[in-house]
Amino acid sequence: MRIAIDGPAGAGKTTLGRALAERFGLRFVNTGLLYRAVAWALQKGYSLSELRLSLDERGRPVVDGHALPKAELQTRELDRLSSEVARRPEVRARLVELQRSLARRGDGGVVMEGRDIGTVVLPDADVKLFVTAAPEERARRRARERPGASFEQMLKELKERDERDRGFGRLVPAADAIVLDTTGKTPEETVEEAVRLVERALRERSPSVEARERGR
Ligand code: DC
Repeated sequence: MRIAIDGPAGAGKTTLGRALAERFGLRFVNTGLLYRAVAWALQKGYSLSELRLSLDERGRPVVDGHALPKAELQTRELDRLSSEVARRPEVRARLVELQRSLARRGDGGVVMEGRDIGTVVLPDADVKLFVTAAPEERARRRARERPGASFEQMLKELKERDERDRGFGRLVPAADAIVLDTTGKTPEETVEEAVRLVERALRERSPSVEARERGR
């Protein structure tokens, strides 16, 4: 089973993705970390063509054999730099291909989270969720995760990032995506709602999807 989760920064995609992966026994891939790792590497002087990038079994990006800790990638500077490098078509082409190959690994069961998963990376995903929340709530959540940043700063940076993170099929719900608004909901409430949606989608899966799954 392949579950695609898309939506803007701070909407709750990672918390939800992790919980769904655990619940349904699937691997979890956070594609934002790959864009962050590319931004990190370019800043360190790597060129895109010489960059060797993969993910380890814990979902951490690995550059030239070295796993990058998530704390090093989830900074305000890399919030901005990753959003900028993600606009380069050659970066997107490379990472979309890597993400598709990551989705094929193992038995192919995956929860993949990003901006363009349901529209571009895995357009045939079995379940597509588009997770949103009001900008103020997303900024409040992010301000808690970024030490030293005020709510006002986070709100401004988040709105700028929302604008930059459009195009290339990003931040538009796929035609068959289910939109989940997490404003005012606890993570547990969001997970419960999503679990119900995934279970319903599984029950309604067409015989052709079942056959494909068995053939994997
Ligand atoms: O999900 P995140 O905030 O860690 O992502 C960092 C940046 O990477 C985000 O601002 C836009 C880009 N990104 C993208 O363009 N496509 C994806 N599938 C995931 C992230």
